[in-house]
Amino acid sequence: MTKEMKKEFTYNLKHINYSNIPPLVGEMMSLLKNHHYGSFKTDVNTAIIGCALEIENGNTDPLELKQGFEIHLMHDIGKLGMSSEFLDFSGRYTSEMFDEMKKHSEEGANLLEKLDFDVKVYNAVEFHHSNFDGSSYPGGEKEAAIPFHSRVIRIADSANTFLTKFCEKEGGSGVFEDLDKWTGNWYDPDLIASFNSLHNKVMDACKKLGVSDPSQTVYMERLVHLYSDSLPLTSVEEVEQHYSL
Ligand SMILES: [Fe+2]
Repeated sequence: MTKEMKKEFTYNLKHINYSNIPPLVGEMMSLLKNHHYGSFKTDVNTAIIGCALEIENGNTDPLELKQGFEIHLMHDIGKLGMSSEFLDFSGRYTSEMFDEMKKHSEEGANLLEKLDFDVKVYNAVEFHHSNFDGSSYPGGEKEAAIPFHSRVIRIADSANTFLTKFCEKEGGSGVFEDLDKWTGNWYDPDLIASFNSLHNKVMDACKKLGVSDPSQTVYMERLVHLYSDSLPLTSVEEVEQHYSL
């Protein structure tokens, strides 16, 4: 790797001036939106899927759902330490780049801790890439010791990544199968059972529209329609309006 490349692909949060930032979700989302709009949009979609998954898992408390939604929104705040060149890089990461990228979970948690967010928030952010069996990064916890919201994000983030591949074309019907291959290893089995239930409801709603293999757009429209009574916010535009971004 050349010296010039190293700078672009080196994790760095030094541009964040901690003394000027109030510990507010809107502040964090504003920073992320201005830093990299694609990451901001991805995190909103992950938050919507994650919140629907919590509802399907039996959470009916509006305050808890709102808190969970906000944790999901901020899970990748550590990406503020990755340059847009790094975030937009579409090639294969070198092991050096992978090591730099992995810092975003712990560094994101450190950022939120320094800004005085609640311990529940930064603990969930720290472990959002931890697999259920304790593998992946940063390591140190497994199964129920991994914070609940981290286990939700682990699934919602993957589901959103699979759906994004089918952004404007078919493919959403296979999302559950793709996740289920890793149940127990990567994903919490109890939460995967809830995702199965969510997915079946979304697919039934798609079939009623005559769509058997939905694009991301159709899948998300049906998901939002099914859970709209309990979701705190239902789109990128609503998040932007709510937090005046
Ligand atoms: Fe992440």
